[in-house]
Amino acid sequence: MQRSEAGSVKILTVVGARPNFMKAAPIIAAINAHNERLVAGYAGRPEPQVETIRHILVHTGQHYDELMSGSFFNDLNLPKPDIHLGVGSGSHATQTAEIMKKFEEVLLGEKPDIVVVVGDVNSTLACALVTSKISFDSDGSGPVIAHVEAGLRSFDRSMPEEVNRILTDHVSDLLFVTEESGLQNLGNEGVSADKIHFVGNTMIDSLLHFKEKAEASTILEKLGFLGQGRKNGEANSSTRYALLTLHRASNVDNRDVFLNIMAGLEELATDCPVVFPVHPRTRRRITEFGFEFSLGKSAGKHRANEQGPGMIVTEPLGYLDFLCLMKHASLVVTDSGGIQEETTILGVPCVTVRENTERPVTIECGTNTIAGTKTDAIKDAIRRQLGGNRDNGVPKNWDGRAGERIIDILVRRHCEKTSFRPSLIPHTVPLEHRYSCP
Ligand code: UD1
Repeated sequence: MQRSEAGSVKILTVVGARPNFMKAAPIIAAINAHNERLVAGYAGRPEPQVETIRHILVHTGQHYDELMSGSFFNDLNLPKPDIHLGVGSGSHATQTAEIMKKFEEVLLGEKPDIVVVVGDVNSTLACALVTSKISFDSDGSGPVIAHVEAGLRSFDRSMPEEVNRILTDHVSDLLFVTEESGLQNLGNEGVSADKIHFVGNTMIDSLLHFKEKAEASTILEKLGFLGQGRKNGEANSSTRYALLTLHRASNVDNRDVFLNIMAGLEELATDCPVVFPVHPRTRRRITEFGFEFSLGKSAGKHRANEQGPGMIVTEPLGYLDFLCLMKHASLVVTDSGGIQEETTILGVPCVTVRENTERPVTIECGTNTIAGTKTDAIKDAIRRQLGGNRDNGVPKNWDGRAGERIIDILVRRHCEKTSFRPSLIPHTVPLEHRYSCP
């Protein structure tokens, strides 16, 4: 296969693990919208001299089962991947190396103009690193690397994701930033300002787009939380409940840390039901550590209308079910990165069981608080979050248009590089939102 034809740009987007899917979906939607606008805008006129986008979706297979991957493609209307690398699980080194070997072959075959990587998982780093060293021509030219969700820093190098973030940012050509701390961090690390674009948050694009659709989820009924039926098309929960997610290796791979966290949740679980969709890593540890009994009710035993306190353990949930549950929860307790952002927009109090966050805007502007992983600190944070009335704001540029801005910038950048006629590209995003890095 050849590189892009004149008048078109070839973009390859990489996804691999669960949190990638909702970050990539708005980019793919913006590509489709861009191409449709071109067709509509030039219907009946001579051959349009504008950039059409040819898109290739690559799934590394880092997450591979229906619950961690397949159901997200349905929920988010994602197209079937054009290429699936089928890499699967392994140690960090094995997984990263396997992705790199297979992705190099894909790049050499497809020769894209731009490679888009999202987030901070092993697939993100592996594909960015391969792209940074690939050369298609004797002049050493390779694709432009665009990193979506650049610049976030926890300043904790023991987190594999922090290493992935730093390295990915430093091999990327275009850095799409979600919050102002990202601008600051990249500036402090000496990244040139002309590479950085503060576009907003594609994960929030997905949330805003699918929020209404999530109301049709039957998850509240299934859990017995929907006593009064639906009101005004909204699935109002008749039961106060909390939602819990835990999957970070530093929290669940160590028995004592995991026990401390669970002890911090006991008081909450005597006050209201705590729904706990369990990640595969966490499930394995629960079995290994023999925690099954201390978790109380399991999803299998829990019946509709059998309300009351306790831990309700479920399989990992699909995107729409989880969004519905998050939206109606009284409190979310999590060690996830993205959930801190989603609860900020939903206005749901969030307790983060980690020592730090790479997303400080969720604390400054949102509903999030950092509790650490000690039992008493978690209890205190939960009490404070349940007791307080917080006015949360909306972080700058989290307006559902990040995907559009990214595509706009990518196409313009390609036009500049190829001296194509950028004046003929229809604008997708109001000008005041463009290139908003300081
Ligand atoms: C990965 C990401 C993490 C992200 C998380 C979301 C890295 C370094 N970590 O962590 O940032 O928050 O995904 O889930 O990339 N497994 C399954 N089915 C699957 C996938 C995984 O059962 O479809 C099991 C496997 O036993 C595997 C374990 O889950 O060993 C962990 O998966 P892995 O991709 O290694 O890391 P996560 O902990 O999921």
